[in-house]
Amino acid sequence: MADKPVIYVLNGPNLNLLGVREPEIYGSDTLDDIAGRLEDRAQELGADVEVRQSNHEGHLIDWIHEAEAEEARAILLNAGAFTHTSVALHDAILAVSVPVIEVHLSNPHAREPFRRKSLVGEAAHGTISGFGALSYLLALDAAMQL
Ligand code: DQA
Repeated sequence: MADKPVIYVLNGPNLNLLGVREPEIYGSDTLDDIAGRLEDRAQELGADVEVRQSNHEGHLIDWIHEAEAEEARAILLNAGAFTHTSVALHDAILAVSVPVIEVHLSNPHAREPFRRKSLVGEAAHGTISGFGALSYLLALDAAMQL
C-alpha cells in the first residue's frame, strides 16, 4: 500500500504557551489538545500529521525545507508573530513546492494594525484564521483537497 500523505503542522513563537497565554484571544486548548484533534482528523482522512513547535525562526525554516525533502502533501504554518516580520519565512515558502496554508487562531486583521501585514500570507497558498483551534482542522481538510 502507498505511504499515507503527511501534513506538516508548524507552530512558531509562544504557541507552546497555548491554553494559558491570553485565553480570551487564543482559547483554552493547549497545543497538545490541538495536535490530538489533528491526529484524529488525519486518521479519518487517511493521512499523518507531523506537529512541531519552535520559538526559533531558523527551526521553522529548516522544517519547511524538510517537508519539501520528505514530499509532504502540505504545510500548515502558524508562524505566530514571525508572520508579520519574517522575510526569511516568506522566502522559505517561495523556495519550496509544497503548498503552505497560513493558519491563525485569532483574526489578525481585527486586531492591532501591526498584525494586518502578513509576510507569510503573501507567499502562502491560502489563509485560514479567526476560528480558534478549528482553524487548524479546517486547514487540514483544505490541505487534503488540494
Ligand atoms: C497568531 C496571531 C499572531 O499575530 C500572534 O503573534 C500569535 C498568534 C494566531 O494564531 O492568532 O502569536 O498567529
